[in-house]
Formats: sequence, structure tokens, C-alpha cells
Amino acid sequence: MSKRKILVTSALPYANGSIHLGHLVEYIQTDIWVRFQKMQGHEVHYVCADDTHGTPIMLRAQSEGITPEALIARVQKEHERDFAGFHVEFDNYYTTHSPETRHYSEDIYGKLKTAGLITSRAVEQFYDPVKQMFLPDRFIKGECPKCGAKDQYGDNCEACGAAYAPTDLKNPYSAVSGAVPVKKASEHFFFKLSDSRCVDFLRAWTTSGTLQTEAANKMREWLGEADENKLSDWDISRDAPYFGFEIPDAPGKYFYVWLDAPVGYMGSFRKLCNDKGIDFDEFWQKDSTAELYHFIGKDILYFHALFWPAMLENAGYRTPTNIYAHGFLTVNGEKMSKSRGTFITAESYLQQGLNPEWLRYYYAAKLNSTMEDIDLNLEDFAARVNSDLVGKYINLASRAAGFISKRFDGKLAASLAPARKCFLEGLFVKSVNIARDPDEFIQGRFTEEDVPDGRRTKYIADLYEQRKYGEALREIMYLTDIVNKFVDYYKPWELAKQNGQDGELHEVCTVILNAFKSLTVYLKPVLPRLAKDVEAFLNIEPLVWEDAKTLLLDHTISPYSHLITRIDPKQITALVEASTESLKPATPQPHSQQRHAQHQENIVETTTQPATISIDDFTKIDLRVARIVNAEHVEGADKLLKLTLDIGTEQRTVFAGIKSAYDPEKLKGRLTVMVANLAPRKMKFGLSEGMVLAAGDGNGLYLLGPDEGAQPGMRIK
Ligand code: 2FM
Ligand code: ZN
Repeated sequence: MSKRKILVTSALPYANGSIHLGHLVEYIQTDIWVRFQKMQGHEVHYVCADDTHGTPIMLRAQSEGITPEALIARVQKEHERDFAGFHVEFDNYYTTHSPETRHYSEDIYGKLKTAGLITSRAVEQFYDPVKQMFLPDRFIKGECPKCGAKDQYGDNCEACGAAYAPTDLKNPYSAVSGAVPVKKASEHFFFKLSDSRCVDFLRAWTTSGTLQTEAANKMREWLGEADENKLSDWDISRDAPYFGFEIPDAPGKYFYVWLDAPVGYMGSFRKLCNDKGIDFDEFWQKDSTAELYHFIGKDILYFHALFWPAMLENAGYRTPTNIYAHGFLTVNGEKMSKSRGTFITAESYLQQGLNPEWLRYYYAAKLNSTMEDIDLNLEDFAARVNSDLVGKYINLASRAAGFISKRFDGKLAASLAPARKCFLEGLFVKSVNIARDPDEFIQGRFTEEDVPDGRRTKYIADLYEQRKYGEALREIMYLTDIVNKFVDYYKPWELAKQNGQDGELHEVCTVILNAFKSLTVYLKPVLPRLAKDVEAFLNIEPLVWEDAKTLLLDHTISPYSHLITRIDPKQITALVEASTESLKPATPQPHSQQRHAQHQENIVETTTQPATISIDDFTKIDLRVARIVNAEHVEGADKLLKLTLDIGTEQRTVFAGIKSAYDPEKLKGRLTVMVANLAPRKMKFGLSEGMVLAAGDGNGLYLLGPDEGAQPGMRIK
């Protein structure tokens, strides 16, 4: 078998949010594939990075009162910690805010420009006159033009599902400052995707036969029939203020985050090449024979299957060998939800003491090569891990190891009777038809017919290669069942009680542990940590794929200590409880469960802060400057006023006990101070999402206000 050169990527997570179980589907899927390829002895490089640019990251940093650089450095650390926690092992994890990514962004842009594939024209967009910035669609809110629902985002309505342009919203306002946006024109740069050079290339690339069927179908839909051209040019620039790379020779214009994000794959690999002396060009030049795979979620197929290959092709680089898109994660059959406690972060899963390999195993059992969504059913999760992993697989080692240690000084038998060897070979090497007569098979009495050596290892390898992990695990568990039947048939615990059966006991336990070793080879891409512990227990070198076929004889193993525990259903309950938010978050975050093509524009997550604080934790109190955009009396309440507060990134409703001291009309437009991270409280009149600060001694009541110049959202420190 010749050694392949393979470069693999997973999508770059945004640098403004935590890694959650939805993200992990992709990283675990990719990591399994990479580990499998490495076990085959190929040269594989797995790179990734944080996706650091764009408006939400800029605003998030502002709202935290730090620089974007400080924000992305902090988040990168968290992401790396979470990935390592789930044994996702990158060869390089980097950032798109790097000199390498800047270099290739400018290089590709320059080459496209020289090729005449960059054009520019004025675009009219909503502009926030207070914040003095153009507003991405998701930062404009207003009333749905169709059903009239209030506070809907600029691209679609969560109440009725209608899709529209932000300019269609009634009474639009900026979600950043609350101001009424105005329309303003500005010059934008476009990548001419509609040019025949792009269209013809994409048509050929799409039908080259390697894409997943669903992806190829989507591409056909996007490209249209041979005589139509459905592709529009792609807007790749954004105006200052923006956190990103300024476009050469275009002051105040920045590359749109989606232009430099995939270039981040190159940037991260370039860094790895520099560090390790790998030949970058061998992987990226036009006629490269190395393979390049991008693992992504189905929502970002458009960027990876249209824009990215067209950019590479026309800038003189190689194009991806394939794009592997997967579906979304549901938990218990539904979208992940904070109120149901199924929006679970990587951090909280690990903090609750759950074993990351349980999840790796379960995801693998559910994954295949299609874009179908996969469901994490929490009950099934515990049941399957306990029965397969612990009950069937680990059980083999625990049933045989003790006898080898106690009765044979830790040493495996020096040889095996032909029938025993036959059993192991038939099971792990040759793939004989076991179903025909299992008992005969277990006793090593079967005809081999013309089964070639290595058929089983090849069969399981092919399933991994094709990302059919669920099928691979089914096959592995089928083999595990047969080995368990072998154990039940020979009953080592009874042999141990009989006189004169030592030789038999020694051989039977040697067979079981050899079978356990072969199964470990097959499971190693999924369970790398466990495999490492098994290697230590069996006292062997790191297992590679071919080791599934070899025999361990006359070999001393280490004493057995327990390798993995069962899931206690109480742990799942605790995890869900720890992830449950008792009340809905103040701002709906509809798409944060999944990655989403517009995700970057979607989410301005508020800083994660504890729901309650103690006096010692004063610094944890998230105090913000807030503008009172509306104040009104509350029917039936004698002390309360209902305030609508603008804190820069969102608006909050707060019921404040200040009616005795203030006329609501006089409060409108005033700045005050609010506690922004107080747990929302359900009151008789509605949900109160924070608290305003006022001084009082029982006689007067005085609302606090900042000095002149303060802006809504500024943090008070
Ligand atoms: O959808 C997302 O989460 C993007 N940050 C993915 C970028 S992948 C690549 F193009 F960089
Ligand atoms: Zn609507």
C-alpha cells in the first residue's frame, strides 16, 4: 500500500462562543477519520483555527471592554482546552488573525484581481447613525412585515418564519444602539462568481463524481441548468469599523470574514509547515497529488463548494479533493435548548465528570457518510455505552486478565492449538462466515473456503475510510459478541476450578486477550485514550491497523486495573440540570444551537456570567450603562415602572420600583446604570431582565447616571 499525503480540516469555530455538543459532532467525526488514517501509516496533517473576524466579535469585545485581540486570545485558549478534553488532536490549531492567513488572503485576492475577477459597485445598506457603522442584517430588528411580530431580526421572522430583506422591516431599529437606521451607500468589492470561468469550472468540479450525492444535488440546484447562470457575484468587502484584514489599496475596506475564513485552513497549515519543515506547495500547488479534505456542517456547504473552490482555482491553487458535510445534532429528538437543559457545552460535560469517550463512542455509532441529522438520545446514550462498551468489550479483558496475572505470572501462553488460532484468524483476519454455525466456529472447526487474509481488516478499514462509523461499530460489536460467546462456551472461571485444566485455561484466556487486542485496534480511532490504557495494560507499543492480525504469545502483560466505568443515569440528570436555564435568556438566540451560514451575523451572546453573585464577587457583577428608551406605568402596580433599556447589543425589559420618584415621560432618553447579569425574574407583570441602580434612604429615591460621554453598553468597572 502506498503512503498517501493527506491534509484534513474541520470548520473553524467562531471566536465568540463556546464549543458545545453540536460542534463536537464535526470535530469528533474528523478526529476519528484522521486517527484512522494515521493508523494506516499515511502522512496526515489535521489543522484548524479560530475564525476570528467580523462584526459580532468586534462588538462582543467592545461590550466586554477589551480589545478584539484580547477576546480572541482568551477564546482560543478555551477552545483548545475543550478540544483537548475530547481528545480531538490537531496537528496545528491556530487563528485566522495571523500573518500567514493575511498573506494568503491578500495573495488570493490579488490574483483574482489580476485575473479580472474582482469588480466593485456601490451598495446601499442600513447604517447606524449613533454607532456610526453599517449594520449586518442580523443586527437590524423591527416588526415583521408579514405578521407584525415585534423585535424580529433583519432576515427572517421567528414568529411566522417569513424571510425578507432588512429593508422590509417595519419600524426598524439597530440592535446595537437602538437608533433608527438610515440607508447609506458605500463602495463594495465583489468576486465575480457569475463569470463563465467560475461557472464552467464549478459545473465540471461538481460533476466530477466525488461529492456526496446530496451535496452534488445541491450544487446542481445552485448552478442551474447548463443554459442558465444562477450564480451571483459575491460581496467580499465590509466597511470600517470592522475587525479583520484591511484590503490592500482600499483604505477603510476590509475582507469579509467569509473571505479569509477558509484561507485560514491554508494559514494554519503554513504555520505547521514552517514549524515542522513540511513542504507547503506539495499540498497546495495546482497539480498537487496530495489529498485535501474539508469536514464541514451542511449549512456552510455553499461557502466550501462554490466560493472556495472557485477562489482557489482562479488564484492558481489546487482545489479540495472532497468536502465532507455532516448533519446537525438534535438532543432527545429536538433542537438543543437552554430551557430543557440540552444546550450542553463541552466544558460543562467535562466539568460534570462525564467521560469524553462515552460521547465519542455514541457519536461514532450514530455517524454515517450522509448529511442526515444525528440524534443524541440521552437515555439511549447511557444504555448503549453501558451495554456495548462496558458490558461487551471491556468485560472481555476483565474476565480473562485476572487468571493470567494470578495463575500464569502475567504471561500469555507461548502457543495456541490450531483450532484456537483458527478462531482468532477467522474472526479478525479472514472474515469467514460465522453465522453458518457459530458453535463450530467458536471451537475453531470451520472451512476457510477461499477467504483471503486481511478481508476483515480491509472491510472495517473501508467503512472508516467512507465515514460509515456506525456500520464499522456494528461490525466490531458483532465480533465482540462472538468473543463473548467464546468466553461463555469455555467458561474460564470453571476451568480455573478444575484440576489439570491449567493448559486449557491459559490458552482460553490468551485467546480472549488477543481478541481484546484486535478489537482495541478497530476501536482505537474512536477511543484513543482507552486504547492507550489498553496498550499499557497489554504492555505493547502503540497499536497500528495491521496489529489486528498479529498474535501476542509468550508475552507478559501488566496487572489489570479497571479501564472504563459505566454511565450512571444520575450523571446525565445532573448534566441536564446544570445546563438548564430556569428562564429564557433575555435575547432569543435562535440559531446558536447550530452553526449557521449567517451565524457570524446572528449571535451577540452576552458575556457568560454567574446567575447569582455574592458580595465578595463584586467584580463579577456586570454593570452597564443603559439608555432608557422607554418608560411606562404598569397597570395594577403601585410601585413599578416598566423600563426598556438599551445596553448596546440588546434591549432589556426591567421592572423598577421607582414609580414614587419618577414620571416615566421624563426618564425617556436618560442614561442610567443596570446590573446586566442578574438572573431574569418572573414577576406578576412579566419578565424582569435586570435591575437599575438607585440611591435612597427611605425618603428620596435617586436613579444613578453616568457622566457625559458614556455610551449604552459600556461596562462599569
Ligand atoms: O460557520 C462557522 O462556524 C464558521 N466559523 C465556519 C468557517 S469554516 C472555514 F471556512 F473557515
Ligand atoms: Zn412574522
